[in-house]
Amino acid sequence: NDDLKAELLEIALDAAHRAGAFLRDGRPDDLGVAATKSSAVDVVTEMDIASEKLITGLLADRRPDDGVLGEEGASVEGSSGVQWVIDPIDGTVNYLYGLPSWSVSIAALKDGETVVGVVHAPMRAETYRAVLGQGAYVNDRPARVRPAPAFGLALVGTGFGYVAERRARQAEVVGHLIPQVRDIRRGGSAAIDLCDVATGRLDAYYERGLNPWDYAAGDLIAREAGALTGGRPGEPLSTDLTIAAPPGLFEPLQARLDELGAWHD
Ligand code: IPD
Repeated sequence: NDDLKAELLEIALDAAHRAGAFLRDGRPDDLGVAATKSSAVDVVTEMDIASEKLITGLLADRRPDDGVLGEEGASVEGSSGVQWVIDPIDGTVNYLYGLPSWSVSIAALKDGETVVGVVHAPMRAETYRAVLGQGAYVNDRPARVRPAPAFGLALVGTGFGYVAERRARQAEVVGHLIPQVRDIRRGGSAAIDLCDVATGRLDAYYERGLNPWDYAAGDLIAREAGALTGGRPGEPLSTDLTIAAPPGLFEPLQARLDELGAWHD
């Protein structure tokens, strides 16, 4: 119900703002890599871990019966029907290098459906938020997708995974697309890319191999701003493939990506 959504939104905004301020103000000058995951370039910093701890601590205080899934290992089953899906730093490589495009992404699901999404981008001083059925906002302004351009005039965002074989395949797909669209962008934070579709800074975005914490909040924000999101034709977005674009551009992009086999390594 609306009271629950309002409560979850308030908590998500509070957690994202606190984590964002901590990450922005507390970034050590000599920040290094604490651990690696799927490959030597898939990195975790001490700040990813500390940010996840800060967020999960706040959630445990405010809503102790909720489930939690976090990129850095947080995993709580919960008993309330509410599950939080958290990326404590989306765009960790940007954060590591001091590039500004990184975010904190927090989604709340009720009985498996995303009802609240918050993406906070401290270096842009922007917070994107959406509540299911209530529209999307950037700070306090309504967010709206850009009307679909012709396919050949689309500015398309994408991203690449961390494992060499997957990247080689992703490069092949992007190699086919570049001559067919206006241009390609690789921002480095999937959550921000989805919000950029929501605010018309990108016409479209796609990526193979994202995890739920990368896309859960941004997916709702993009949809509430008027985008369609999905995976292969007829399928919802998933780890295989995530696509977001306004109606009119979504369909030809989805068809083209399917033809190119963008959903497999
Ligand atoms: C990554 C970013 C990046 C995308 C990668 C993600 P992380 O998330 O969203 O833009 O291309 O696929 O893994 O590791 O920085 O949280």
